[in-house]
Amino acid sequence: MKSKKVLSVLVTTALAVSVLTGCGGGRGTGESAPAANTVETAGTEKTDSEPANDSSASDSSEGGEVVGVALPWLGTQNWAEAEVMFKEQLEAAGYEAIIQAADQKVPQQQQQIESMIENGAKVIVVGPVDGSQLGSVLEKAKDAGVYVIGYDRLLENTTGVDGVVQFGSIQTGELQAQALLQGLEELKGEAPYNIELFGGGPADPNAPNFFTGAMSVLQPLIDDGTLVVVSGQTDFTQCATADWDNSKAQSRMDAILAGNYSDIEIDGVLSPNDGIARAIITSCENAGQPIPVVSGLDAENESVEWVWSGRQYSTIAKPTNALVAETVSIIDSLLGGNGMPETDVTVSNGVIDVPIYELPPVVVTKDNAKEVFADDPDRMALLKD
Ligand code: BGC
Repeated sequence: MKSKKVLSVLVTTALAVSVLTGCGGGRGTGESAPAANTVETAGTEKTDSEPANDSSASDSSEGGEVVGVALPWLGTQNWAEAEVMFKEQLEAAGYEAIIQAADQKVPQQQQQIESMIENGAKVIVVGPVDGSQLGSVLEKAKDAGVYVIGYDRLLENTTGVDGVVQFGSIQTGELQAQALLQGLEELKGEAPYNIELFGGGPADPNAPNFFTGAMSVLQPLIDDGTLVVVSGQTDFTQCATADWDNSKAQSRMDAILAGNYSDIEIDGVLSPNDGIARAIITSCENAGQPIPVVSGLDAENESVEWVWSGRQYSTIAKPTNALVAETVSIIDSLLGGNGMPETDVTVSNGVIDVPIYELPPVVVTKDNAKEVFADDPDRMALLKD
């Protein structure tokens, strides 16, 4: 028995976020000492974005307040874009940017944040490698009068966080699951459908949230037999992909196919992001399977091309420029002496209720790609007829 799901695809993207310029004192520390006039970038595994290590750009910021940006890695396009866009937008707003990426290593990120504090940062923006492992260095930042903003991921188990800017993470998972169901109904005939489930890196607080959101949609259909998880692996711990490592996801998919699908077809796979989606699809192609319906996240260039050609069913756009602009507007408010902007949303991080500034993720399939990317000439250029 097939239960029909109605999927409403959101096509709203434009998030008007004004970037105000403004400088002021830090958190109760009065005027700041001018910091070293450098822009640093560190990290590995760049994707196809241009590098942001043009130190000549630091000349544009004379004596502006120092803002640190600590990114977890540059291994997916959204983080590589964040590195470039933070540099551009912070400097355009008159700040001096110290931007570093931690190559998925917690101690490296702790050190980078320490050095941002030492270099006089008034605000530190953090996309944590591990949401729960920065407690003491963030408390130290707080004690030094530095504002801390979580970027794209929650900062857990610490009072040293003033707010978090992100795309709705539970909602992201719900949208991934809804897109998977829509694709199954569209492309794979009548239920039941054979599916498998993948999650992201367990240290990233988004990963269990994406999975929880997705399972809130999928579990009832697993329970009623519409969806069959043939491997039987339905717990987040079984489905997670350490460090968001695409090759680990591909190996897990290879093993699942070899062990369970020698004489049946796989219809769909829940994937937490685009890199893992491409690994899953490649594994299925190598095993001689018809391409299953696979979800994704990030609207990475390569996956936008795959969605357009029908190789990947869906992705989710979470535009980095909008998230960076929202973060910079909060920095302006803080350093302009106006505190954190109002928000109705808070989330407990285990210790305090953290103000959350949430932007909406948007599902992308071949059907709405041109609408979603109407204001994104780079991605529009990938949609070739
Ligand atoms: C981000 C995703 C990204 C993943 C792996 C998540 O926290 O929200 O956009 O694909 O990390 O880098």
